[in-house]
Amino acid sequence: MTRVISVVSGKGGVGKTTMTSNLGVALSKHGEDVVIIDGNFSGANIAQHFGMGFQDVSLNDVLEGDAYITQAVAKHPEGVSVLPASILEFESETENLKHSLIDFLGDKDYVLIDAAAGVGDEVEAAVEASDEVLWYLNLSSHR
Ligand SMILES: Nc1ncnc2c1ncn2[C@@H]1O[C@H](COP(=O)(O)OP(=O)(O)O)[C@@H](O)[C@H]1O
Ligand SMILES: [Mg+2]
Repeated sequence: MTRVISVVSGKGGVGKTTMTSNLGVALSKHGEDVVIIDGNFSGANIAQHFGMGFQDVSLNDVLEGDAYITQAVAKHPEGVSVLPASILEFESETENLKHSLIDFLGDKDYVLIDAAAGVGDEVEAAVEASDEVLWYLNLSSHR
């Protein structure tokens, strides 16, 4: 069964993208079939964490109905699949994310969503699409 997990936090800069990337690579090294999704539709950065640059087809094209989700997936040499978003403006509804993930269900072992900062529409879409939420805390400012 596919586990869809979003990594969420009320804040930016706390380590969500780093943690999502490392968790995805670690799980794939344990033989799991993992896809990491960039939930930052308006501030994409997961592909940059993997040194992959921008793709011709992004998650935003999928959400707009202009591409199949499988067209937007890029396989990283570490074995993990990455689904980059785009920094370009897009018009579609963020709720399309849950529907777009259907092709992965029963196919991938894990779908990890690196959510945007805050609690806006993009984060809500990630949480709605997920079975589980990993709430990321960084307590360094409370020391
Ligand atoms: N465990 C950690 N210890 C120290 N620095 C970290 C840790 N995790 C992430 N960072 C650094 O913190 C910054 C923000 O991380 P990032 O993963 O982009 O956060 P977010 O996705 O929550 O905005 C980056 O410079 C990253 O290298
Ligand atoms: Mg991030």
